[in-house]
Amino acid sequence: MSQRRPSSARWLQEHREDPYVLAARREGYRSRAAYKLLELQTFPKEHYRQGSDRGLLIQPGMTLVDLGAAPGGWTQVASRLVAPQGRVVAVDLLPMDPVAGAEVILGDFLEEGVLQQVAERLGGSGLAHVILSDMAPNMSGIPCVDQARGEVLAESAFQFAQERLHPGGSLVLKIFQGSSFHAIVGHARQLFERVKLVKPRASRDRSAEHYLLGLGFHR
Ligand SMILES: C[S@@+](CC[C@H](N)C(=O)[O-])C[C@H]1O[C@@H](n2cnc3c(N)ncnc32)[C@H](O)[C@@H]1O
Repeated sequence: MSQRRPSSARWLQEHREDPYVLAARREGYRSRAAYKLLELQTFPKEHYRQGSDRGLLIQPGMTLVDLGAAPGGWTQVASRLVAPQGRVVAVDLLPMDPVAGAEVILGDFLEEGVLQQVAERLGGSGLAHVILSDMAPNMSGIPCVDQARGEVLAESAFQFAQERLHPGGSLVLKIFQGSSFHAIVGHARQLFERVKLVKPRASRDRSAEHYLLGLGFHR
């Protein structure tokens, strides 16, 4: 009989005891990732004056794109926050169960046809108030390959945001340390009123991921 490797046994043990995994189970979220978005949701409050209606990232009535959505934790959070009039368009390579209030596109975001489908679902303006990207490549275990794939996904989502964000809109972009990290952050500083790099509490310490939060998009 094959034995489980110690590292995967340790991962399973950590996973079972992880407070965000336990909370997600209790509160009906499909992934612990939901808590990262819930934390990012209130982050802009620190950056806008009190009383401003811009105190929350996602607001009722907004149109939002969720890239790399499966299994759907962020989609659940976002759909609830934009309800009842808002719209969420979610995209992933992997199939996911429907989420009330969201339209799900199954496909590779790097393909032109899939980009077109997203644009068509954004309504008349073809623009979104908020673009989220939590996309991460399937890990091959070869660090330079995984890093390069992660960078391609982040760069593509960043490009998409430049084409599809409403003026004043916001971007949440998962980025990994690598050669394009500083280039993306520098470029974002030219395109957004405020840019912040955030490591949410629910993001595991050992993960190299950070989220770029861009507020107040302008061209
Ligand atoms: C960390 S998971 C997202 C978790 C999700 N935000 C949640 O709350 O449940 C990253 C996702 O990115 C997706 N992904 C990776 N490359 C993609 C691509 N080229 N197009 C669409 N989705 C992609 C993966 O399939 C995976 O489901």
